[in-house]
Amino acid sequence: MTTAATVEEAAPQAGLLAAFESALAEDSRIEPRDWMPDAYRATLIRQMAQHAHSEIIGMQPEANWISRAPSLRRKAILMAKVQDEAGHGLYLYSAAETLGVGRDELLDKLHAGRQRYSSIFNYPTLTWADVGAVGWLVDGAAITNQVPLCRCSYGPYARAMVRICKEESFHQRQGYELLLALSRGTEAQHAMAQDAVDRWWWPSLMMFGPPDTESGHSEQSMAWKIKRHSNDELRQRFVDICVPQAEVLGLTLPDPALRWNEERGAHDFGDIDWTEFHEVLRGNGPCNEQRITQRRTAHEQGAWVREAATAYAAKQGTEHGEVR
Ligand SMILES: [Fe+2]
Ligand SMILES: [Fe+2]
Repeated sequence: MTTAATVEEAAPQAGLLAAFESALAEDSRIEPRDWMPDAYRATLIRQMAQHAHSEIIGMQPEANWISRAPSLRRKAILMAKVQDEAGHGLYLYSAAETLGVGRDELLDKLHAGRQRYSSIFNYPTLTWADVGAVGWLVDGAAITNQVPLCRCSYGPYARAMVRICKEESFHQRQGYELLLALSRGTEAQHAMAQDAVDRWWWPSLMMFGPPDTESGHSEQSMAWKIKRHSNDELRQRFVDICVPQAEVLGLTLPDPALRWNEERGAHDFGDIDWTEFHEVLRGNGPCNEQRITQRRTAHEQGAWVREAATAYAAKQGTEHGEVR
């Protein structure tokens, strides 16, 4: 009896898996109501949650400078950018909800340290020039990572990324323009821009994740077409994009080994300090504690807003005769 039941269950499962695999092979999208392997769903939830968490934690280092922006124009730009990041978090939490996981659950995991956000946001923004370096390098690295995600096999994630990438490209440009203004300014302003680039360059290269030889999830994610390029490929692409931009900026990238390799048609660059990367990942970066504490506090202080919004929505529903 058990055997018969197992066979009956196994048959449609095999058909579903075949349909899933042929959708991947044809490069068509997997949608929320489609059958998908549990591990595919779990991988997407992990990645999209980490991405959403990074968007909202990433608001902190930049919001740090809103009240100290040097002009009304700069303040308006920075406020718009930080607000965009909140919006990115919203799209991504909503996209993750289509996989059957609630926003509350994801936020609880973030606050309990059970899900990660990008390590880059555990570095401090020490000067105004850091706002420029973050825009140019951190948002720039994010775009390099995220443009291929617009072709990710999971439909809601891919569509969210299209809009996010458009906004990220504005973020990257505002950072670049800010650094250019400082670089062409007084000697002290130029030095401040150079110092920011010196501090953000290596951490931004780490944003692409560990080298391909050590990356645990990569192969399966590539097979599922969640990921389209390896960590090292994307990192190389980013370096090649940044070198000519740094020249226009009149700033130096802090890597004596950085040079054009004619044979490879790409830039060679120095070794990344992976010990630092793993330390920050383990929670020992300069701001890990501060970021998560601030996030928890903001969440607790916002409880009344969520309660009021829920009560309002329930009231509207009742008034319109809906059953809740
Ligand atoms: Fe963003
Ligand atoms: Fe951004």
